[in-house]
Formats: sequence, structure tokens, C-alpha cells
Amino acid sequence: MTHPTQRGVFITLEGIDGAGKTTQFEAVVGALRAAGRTVVATREPGGTPIGERIRALLLSEPMHYATEALLMFAARQEHVLSVIEPALLRGEVVVCDRFTDATLAYQGAGKGLPIDRLEALANWVHPGLAPDLTFLIDVPVELAAQRLRAQARIADRFERESAEFFARVRGHYLALAAAEPLRWVIVDGTRDLESVRDDLVHHMRKILQEPV
Ligand code: TMP
Repeated sequence: MTHPTQRGVFITLEGIDGAGKTTQFEAVVGALRAAGRTVVATREPGGTPIGERIRALLLSEPMHYATEALLMFAARQEHVLSVIEPALLRGEVVVCDRFTDATLAYQGAGKGLPIDRLEALANWVHPGLAPDLTFLIDVPVELAAQRLRAQARIADRFERESAEFFARVRGHYLALAAAEPLRWVIVDGTRDLESVRDDLVHHMRKILQEPV
């Protein structure tokens, strides 16, 4: 259902690398579309031509941590202004593979940048905009590492981080979820794909207040 005067719904998916988030992202988008929803399926970093070019740099080029954080927000600024906000204003459902919570977890907890600076950037780049619903696909660091090793492709710059790094990122995600339980849904990502997907669809039904 889209109604021109009704703001859309902003859903994000988060989790450490190897959590299975991208597979579930496709399931969530598919379920919404099958239910007749107009969905903008997008990702960060990326989601716009400039954002995708920034993503390519971020995933491949070594850089200072602050540069990395600023590039995340530069890509996000384009994304919010040209994709996310317009879609929400049209009353559509935006499903985004990662958003600012990823910056707090990866660049903040993972790389040690001050959280208050990252929050100040978030307030500049998207004042008043936060996801309505965030799924945390949660898996232990060892399982995520195992899944990454099983992938056919070469690991990117982020996927090559240490187990300690991912433990900090996971811990921060769990803390964010605990601090805002109405927005976050923690999904046990260790189970089979169908069970995880069923969980996600069940929770989406609640927020969209009609069958998905
Ligand atoms: P992806 O694997 O979900 O496509 O994301 C690419 C990588 O970018 C992933 O390792 C997490 C990282 N990332 C950050 O470090 N900070 C951010 O703000 C975002 C959006 C992603």
C-alpha cells in the first residue's frame, strides 16, 4: 500500500561480516514485494552512483580511520538526500543493508573513533532520520569467520579484520539493540536460512501492521 500523504517505513539490516545478512536482505525484500509493497532495496556504503564509487574505494584502499568514517558519511549524505528521504516521502518501504549503526559499530567500537563525533556527523547528515526497524542478524564471531572462509571470493579490506575487532563490533551492536529495544530486533543467525527468514517476516508484519 502506498498513500501519498503517509510517510514510508525505513527498515535496516545489520550484523558482522559473515552473519548472513545479505542473503536475508534478499528474502526480506522478496517477501515485501510479494505482498505488493513498493520497496526500495538499497545498501551502504553505496546506493547511489557516487556512493558506489566511494564504496569501491572504502573496500579496497587502506586509509586513515577518520577518512574512512568521513567517506561513510559522504556516501550516506548522497544516499539520504537522493534515495532514502524521497522514497519515504513517497510512502514506500526502504530496506537498507546497513546504515549509521554500522558506522558506530565498525568505526566507533571496532576502530576506536569517538562515538560522540560519529553521532555529531549523523546529526548533520540525517537530522531526525532513524530507521523504524532494525534487524540485527547475530552470530558468534567464530561462525561468521568460518562462513567468510567458505566464500569463493577474496575477502575485502573489512572482512580481513581480526576476531577481536569483530567481537567489539558485535558487542556494540548488541549494546545498541539493548539501548533501543523498540527499534531493534535481534535475530539468531546461527539457525537455518528459512527459520531466520520466518523470524524477519514475522517482525515486519508487526511494524507494517498488515500481512507481509
Ligand atoms: P557489506 O559487507 O554489508 O556490504 O558492507 C561492506 C563493509 O563496510 C562491511 O565490512 C561493513 C563496512 N561498513 C562500515 O565499516 N561502516 C559503515 O558505516 C558501513 C555502512 C559499512
